[in-house]
Amino acid sequence: MINSKQNILITGGGSGIGLSLARKFLEHGYTVIITGRSLSKLEEAKKELNQLHIFQSDVTVDEDAKSLAKQIHKDFGGIDILINNAGIMNFIDSGDEGNDLKKQFNEIEINYHAPIRMLHYFLPQLKKSKNAILINVSSGLAYVTFSQAPVYSGTKAALHFWTQAIRPQLKQHNIKVVELLPPVVDTKLAQDANMEDESLKPMPPDKMAELFWKDFIKGKEEITPGLSKQLKLMSRLAPKFIFNQLNKQSIPNK
Ligand SMILES: NC(=O)c1ccc[n+]([C@@H]2O[C@H](COP(=O)([O-])OP(=O)(O)OC[C@H]3O[C@@H](n4cnc5c(N)ncnc54)[C@H](OP(=O)(O)O)[C@@H]3O)[C@@H](O)[C@H]2O)c1
Repeated sequence: MINSKQNILITGGGSGIGLSLARKFLEHGYTVIITGRSLSKLEEAKKELNQLHIFQSDVTVDEDAKSLAKQIHKDFGGIDILINNAGIMNFIDSGDEGNDLKKQFNEIEINYHAPIRMLHYFLPQLKKSKNAILINVSSGLAYVTFSQAPVYSGTKAALHFWTQAIRPQLKQHNIKVVELLPPVVDTKLAQDANMEDESLKPMPPDKMAELFWKDFIKGKEEITPGLSKQLKLMSRLAPKFIFNQLNKQSIPNK
């Protein structure tokens, strides 16, 4: 499956998991393009990894995604791999009448609508590739819901089901569909979280990328590093038990 002369686009590749995946693909000779909203974050990443190609682009803005596809086609002739990685996690108490509805809908936009949008605009390029792959980054929380981040959990479960549903459809166009379901990884997203349970100790992002790579080159379609493997198993064997373990505290700290 490895073809070093390929172009890969990673949304939200300027930090965390996306940046570690970018580093891994660069190591293996891919041309790596990363996007994000903050230009300074992308420039910081490029300072560390000079071979990166950076584009400021917001996955929730239709015009951004459309013009990104156009620009990449012009500059690189298209992509072979799309990684839908950009994501956010909000801690929300759904019983609070003062909740910001816009903020909740924006989380759905980034985590769930955007992967659908990105596939839509990059589909023609993927169809042209001889070795096309779509990689969606969901979460171990797609197996077991996390009450403190209810909208997040919903978006990741939706992304998980969407990924499974489109896999046989895209296979007919020679586009392989892979899902990466990370455990708790030591990034800004997880640092903002209230994960006090020792068993949820965050994994360094470079280690997560290493584990991903091992399964990716074996051709695995559902990649579950670390604790995510246990979450998958437990969600089938003892769903109530694992739900209770993960949700000892259901309301997030203020
Ligand atoms: N860390 C974990 O424990 C964990 C566990 C399971 C799954 N995940 C998933 O892994 C993915 C990466 O998260 P991370 O942990 O690496 O967090 P992170 O370090 O906060 O990275 C998220 C990236 O997404 C970008 N992003 C956010 N909104 C965007 C938008 N509207 N358009 C374009 N880019 C956007 C951010 O850059 P800008 O702010 O500059 O746009 C940032 O670079 C997410 O999908 C997350 O849900 C993380």
